[in-house]
Amino acid sequence: MEGTMALPGVDSLEVQKKYISLIKEKNTVYENENGRKRLACVITFGCQMNAHDSEKLLGMLCEMGYGSTDKEQDADFIIYNTCCVRENAENRVYGNLGYLKHKKAEKPDMKIALCGCMMQQPTALETIRQKYRHVDIVFGTFNLYRLPELLYTNIESGSPVFDIWDRHGEIAEDLPSIRKYRFKASVNIMYGCNNFCSYCIVPYVRGRERSRTPEDILCEVRRLADDGVKEVTLLGQNVNSYGRGLEQKTSFAELLRLINGVDGIERIRFMTSHPKDLSDELISAMAECKKVCRHIHLPVQAGCNAILEKMNRHYTKEKYLETVYKIKKAMPDCAVTTDIMVGFPGEGDRETDDTIDVIKKARFSGAFTFIYSRRTGTPAAVMEDQVSEEQAKRSFNRVLEALNPIIYELNTQKIGSVFDVLAEEVSSGDASFITGRTDDNSLVHFKGGRELIGSFVRVKITECKTFYLIGERI
Ligand code: 5AD
Ligand code: SF4
Repeated sequence: MEGTMALPGVDSLEVQKKYISLIKEKNTVYENENGRKRLACVITFGCQMNAHDSEKLLGMLCEMGYGSTDKEQDADFIIYNTCCVRENAENRVYGNLGYLKHKKAEKPDMKIALCGCMMQQPTALETIRQKYRHVDIVFGTFNLYRLPELLYTNIESGSPVFDIWDRHGEIAEDLPSIRKYRFKASVNIMYGCNNFCSYCIVPYVRGRERSRTPEDILCEVRRLADDGVKEVTLLGQNVNSYGRGLEQKTSFAELLRLINGVDGIERIRFMTSHPKDLSDELISAMAECKKVCRHIHLPVQAGCNAILEKMNRHYTKEKYLETVYKIKKAMPDCAVTTDIMVGFPGEGDRETDDTIDVIKKARFSGAFTFIYSRRTGTPAAVMEDQVSEEQAKRSFNRVLEALNPIIYELNTQKIGSVFDVLAEEVSSGDASFITGRTDDNSLVHFKGGRELIGSFVRVKITECKTFYLIGERI
């Protein structure tokens, strides 16, 4: 099966069920002969959207009779769910593939699949075809649900299977999924992006914006609640434009109110919000819905108006700050976090000064900071005034120097306060501690046993670091 499908969306999940059972038969034979299941390992690069797609891949793999492992060296089937937002994520995939070439020479039965955003780019695809011939299966962002068919075709034919679609079909509802946590889950509310920020590859690899219907979303959230889920995170590239294009128009604020009414769900989070579309209606819904967490991730990217315009962000520094002030006025305890990019074409010290000014005024509780990465095919890639690495690194350090003391100071103010923390896992640094999150998304470590995982624990904050809090159960 080679080439690009012209008309996606005609085949249904029913067809995949047939392939699921055919592969399951093979895996059962293997298990009986070898005394162990075949193991699959899914490695995720990039954002929460990809992490959630990987949960769906794992769901299908489980139905096909695979066991799962986190260790690549133990796996019989390795899938890289790739990202292409920045170049270093792509380089890591190529690096890993180089390593797997040797592994596959030792273990010829091993299967390797690549999927996700990077595969939607023709140049990356060509590189895989030419230089990484040990890859068995390649698919993209629009046809993830066809994994069983593609795998079966590869097993039967013994040759590589490439199946990349250039646009979306129908939204595939009801895919099985294996959640990383039993008590919290992500829910896609929309796919794709229409914003075309000039630096960003996402609209080219994830397609146009399309929203799931409120009925489908509510049905999924109710099912999750029945399954013991207490916290849902609603996912979309720009949740604030949710509902455009639906037959029965529903705004994101309305959707939040609907989900707020689902019994069993105790916390609702969402990401990401585009500042240009954040409405007063949404701020009121957040303030009024008890289950909606006091946290909003609102990527600012830059503070200089000329840069924001070149980025095609459709807001000014002043408008952004006005939005942040409105949020804080309606919900004084609401954490605002952000994404910041430095080194965009034309950004010198003066432009970075504006970003630092926003940081000081918005007082972010946290931020992901990135150095601009030139993405072929985006308008920014051909802008003339690309910035030197040295200049970008200087801006990066200046931005961190502005951010960190503010984050630390906001954390310090929490010492002595009591929070309900949803206990998530045993702390990686010390097994006698549990790590969880507050309503405002602060990370908290406290002494406790694994029996607490999945429950809300009252914790008094006793100490703080820049990126986390330490507390004790009360
Ligand atoms: N270079 C660096 N960072 C990028 N982002 C998106 N595209 C690029 C790029 N070309 C960042 C933005 C976005 C986050 C998800 O990734 O800050 O908000
Ligand atoms: Fe990329 Fe902008 Fe869309 Fe976010 S809103 S995915 S940064 S184009």
